[in-house]
This record gives sequence, structure tokens and C-alpha cells, in this order.
Amino acid sequence: MAGRIPQEFLDQLLGRVDLVEIVNTRVPLRRAGHEFMACCPFHAEKTPSFSVSPRKQFYHCFGCGAHGNAIGFLMAYEQMEFLDAVEELARSAGLDLPRSQGRDSGFNPRPLLDWIAQADRFYRQQLREHPDRQRAVDYLRQRGLTGQTAGLFGIGYAPPGWDLLGQVLGEAGAAAQDLIDAGLVSRDDRGWLRDRFRDRIIFPIRDRRGRVIAFGGRALDGDTTPKYLNSPETALFHKGSELYGLYEARTRNRQLQRLVVVEGYMDVVALVQNGITNVVATLGTATTADHIERLFRTASDLVFSFDGDRAGRAAAWRALETALPFLRDGRQIGFLFLPEGEDPDTLVRREGPAAFGQRLEQATPLADYLFAELRTQTNPNTLAGRARLAELARPLLEKLPDSHFRDLMEERLQKDAQLVNTRLRPPPLSAASPADRNLRLTRTPLRRAIALLLYRPELAQQVADTAFVAQDDDESGRKLLASLLAVLRANPQLTMAALLERYRDTREGVILERLAAWEPEVPEQEFRFEQEFSDILASLDRRDALRERLPEMLMRWGTPSALGPAEREALRNLGKSQKL
Ligand code: CTP
Ligand code: MN
Repeated sequence: MAGRIPQEFLDQLLGRVDLVEIVNTRVPLRRAGHEFMACCPFHAEKTPSFSVSPRKQFYHCFGCGAHGNAIGFLMAYEQMEFLDAVEELARSAGLDLPRSQGRDSGFNPRPLLDWIAQADRFYRQQLREHPDRQRAVDYLRQRGLTGQTAGLFGIGYAPPGWDLLGQVLGEAGAAAQDLIDAGLVSRDDRGWLRDRFRDRIIFPIRDRRGRVIAFGGRALDGDTTPKYLNSPETALFHKGSELYGLYEARTRNRQLQRLVVVEGYMDVVALVQNGITNVVATLGTATTADHIERLFRTASDLVFSFDGDRAGRAAAWRALETALPFLRDGRQIGFLFLPEGEDPDTLVRREGPAAFGQRLEQATPLADYLFAELRTQTNPNTLAGRARLAELARPLLEKLPDSHFRDLMEERLQKDAQLVNTRLRPPPLSAASPADRNLRLTRTPLRRAIALLLYRPELAQQVADTAFVAQDDDESGRKLLASLLAVLRANPQLTMAALLERYRDTREGVILERLAAWEPEVPEQEFRFEQEFSDILASLDRRDALRERLPEMLMRWGTPSALGPAEREALRNLGKSQKL
């Protein structure tokens, strides 16, 4: 969308407006040298760290890192969309938005919005007047809804019948195509216009400005499918970015610090009726990056509430992954897992608002959820499991923006790994004896792997699964390699010198010192460290697989024709010792 506004116009606009003035009318500023300061409107603080530079026309908060220009400020502070912010600035600067290049290249949302607004009025009126309305009213009452709540959300009723709405709007002058484009009617296979919503409770979905842009319709009984029917994707409505109840939440709360994110219409409505008014729903879709952006534009603290079942957990994990890139300092996410079989609607009505509020307070912080979840996938009591934990956590932590929070998460990962490390130490080392001074080392793939690792400790991080390395206990080279991998994966920053220090006065240390003298045979830039290292580990892995087949192969040894040439070769190689 941003691309549709010419860059020259944005340049002109930003040259014309004054950020200091724009901020100052909303957040009173005090002059401090060349800049202006205030307490940051985007996070809670007592001493001002929010500064606005008149020269740069840029704001920056040293506390939470929020920053931007005039457009960014309006988007963040007024929770405006990009185009709305541009429009607002243009108006204040007395500039005309280049119309033809404005919204959606000439697309005019007005007629669709008007017909949807009329449909909205129609549905609400039907809830009061239609002869069949009693069923709808009974349904709402049975679900515990008060008339006041229904009024607050503009809940309506689409009566039975094929084309009631289509006729009413047609008589009002609507073109069929407009009604189709608005998602209100569709053509059936014989070309007749059919109302989309029939005999359903209607939940109007508003955009951030409060304009109704779509509807959700719930069947009145348990048998009708689908249970919920929503407006289709239209020029006005994109399910993956809208949040049901956001407009209502913002009008009820001037300054929203926290938003509760639930899954369904009824969850929003029931919570609001019970006094928990800062709640929105994702309309049954997975949480998208768009959602997260919009949510964080409104509040800095999000609590996602999900069912306690498997589907709920899967949805929560997806939300976590989606949210990570947006977690800059000052923002928080919590997860509330509900008991099996409950949703916020049933729970708040059963337990009451106080108990539900209690649950919200005790929501699991994202960090705890992340590590707890990874621990269920890894066995912290094994070396391999611990390595796996680090491996699963790393790509997730890398999604976090550079922040204090990220540092804390990294520390926590280290600690989690270390903690296990002290419980389950790498294989014990043996004391060095004078005889070791004369140790002669022949070249073996294992020793080469160790030499590579000493030269490039970061290779330890590329091992997908260290389990097989430690598998063979009687092979001392393996023990040493396993030990090195364990130490390096728990302490990725160790240099070779620091690594060797850990093995001081052990027999392994003597071996390592020898191997540390190794240099690449070709210039370092040309040496393929990763490749060689992983080739050696892979060959160890293959050897293990071969060993498992050994008894069976030996059975056939007696009848040579039963073994192919490759198998014979493999058996011969297996005989060569790999001991240190
Ligand atoms: N949803 C949908 N289409 C469906 C089912 C669900 O769009 N066929 C969306 C609706 O927004 C719904 C939400 O997903 O509110 C959650 O669905 P679900 O948990 O199945 O329903 P509830 O919200 O619990 O609905 P109710 O309490 O009315 O049974
Ligand atoms: Mn429900």
C-alpha cells in the first residue's frame, strides 16, 4: 500500500510538518538543549527518556527503543494505519493526497461501506422486529448475554429466507455487483442472488475507525454447519489482519496497557460483559504477523488465551513464533492455557470475572513457555538432549530483535544448558602420567575431527545430534570428542586456549595439546572445515550402523558369495582400530 503514495509526496509532506508540534499537542515536551524531552508515551517511566529532535524530525526513546518520524509517531501513538497517518498529516499541512495514487489505485471503498452499514442496521432491526426473532433472542439469552452487551457489540439477526437483505438493499438502489463485492450476497449456480447470512446471529466486525467492514454469523443450533460463517475476503476485509473487538476495546479504554487475545466472538462478548473489557479475537485464524503488529500498536502487554487441548497448544506455539520478531524491550507476551474443554466464554461465566482475572495475572510469560515447551521435546538428562535443547532454542532466539530481553533469553539458555551440565558431566578425564609425554599419535579420522574442532571451536555448533558420538564408551577418542562437543556447546564463546585450559593436567589434555599443533594443509580460506568435519562425523555414524549389522553379516561370512564386495570392504575397514 505504501508504494502507492509517491515518494516525492512523502518527502514533501515530511518536509512540511513539524514533528515537535505533532508530538507536543499529544505529549507535552520540554526543551533540553537542542532537543525536546518527555516521559515516553510508549512505556511506563518516571524520568524522561523520550527525545524529539527538531533538526532530524525524528523521535527516539532511550528507554524502550521506540523511534520514528511523524508518520511513525501517529501510527504508534494514535494507532493509525499508514495511510490514515499520511492522510492526517496531509490535512494538517494543507496538502492534498494525490487521489489517483491514493488508496488502492482509485478503489473507492465508500459504496461498499455504505451498503455494509445498511446491512448492519438491517440485521439489528431484525433482531428487534422480525417475526422469528424470538429464537434468536432466546439463543442469546441462553448464552447469558444481556441486551446491553448485545447493543454494545451491535449484535443482530439475519432472518431465514433466501434474499431478504438483497431485496431491501436492491430497493435502496444497490447494484448487485456492489453487494457481491461487499460479501453480503452471492450468486447461486442458477445465477440467483442469495443472502450470505441466513438464520444466524450476526456479529458486526469493525475496522479500527469503527466502520463495519464484515460480519460473522453464528448458527442458532448445534447441527448447522458451518457453526460460524464469516464474510469472505473482500477489498475491505482481510481476515488475517482484523481483530474482532479491537475498536470496541479502544473506545472503552483510553490508554490500553494490556490486551487479551482470544479465539472467538463469544469469548470477547462474554468477557466484556463480565468487566474484562480489554479483549479481542483473531476470528478463528492463526495469529499472523499483521495481528501482532496491530496488537502491539495498541498495547505493550499481550496475553494470549488458548484452549488447553492439543490444538490450542499448537496455536499458542505458532503465535509465539510469529510474535518473536516483534518483542522489543518494553513489550511483553503471556500465555493463558485454559483447562480442557473450556473457553474464555464458558470459564468466565462459570468462575466469574475475579477468578478469570486471577488466571490472567498468572499467565505464563513467553520465556517460561518457550523453555518449558522445548524441554518437553528434549531430554535434559542426556548430553544429546541438552544439545538438542540449545539447537531448538537458537533459531527461535535469533528471531528476537536485538534487545535486553534477547540477552536475558540467551543467558537463560546458557544456564539451562549449564544446569544440566553440572548434573550430568561429560565423561571423566584421566590424570596425566609422565609416560604420556612420549605418547605417539597415529592419524585417525577421530583425531582429525578433534584437531578440526580445536582449530575451529564453532564447528561444535553444527552437529545436529551428538548422541552417536558418545555412544561407544570403550573408544576413548570418542569420549574425548563427546567431551569437547559438550563443553563447546554449553560455552560457544570458548577459544582454543580456554578450551585447553579445561583439560590441564589430564591425559586428554596432553593429547589435545598435540592435536592443537595441527594446521590446515591448504591455505585457511580454501580449507573446507565444515565439510570435512561433518564427513568424519557422518562416517562414524555409518560405522555404528554397520556395527549393528555385524552379527548378521558374520553369519553369512562363512559363505563368501553371500557378502557383496562393498560389504567385504566395509568389514575390513571396521577392523582397523580407531583407538587413541
Ligand atoms: N470460527 C469460524 N468458522 C468456524 C468455526 C470457528 O470462523 N466454522 C471462528 C469464529 O470466530 C469462532 C472462533 O473461530 O468464534 C472460535 O471457534 P470455536 O472455538 O469453534 O467456537 P466458539 O467461539 O467457542 O463458539 P461458540 O462458543 O459459539 O460455540
Ligand atoms: Mn465457545
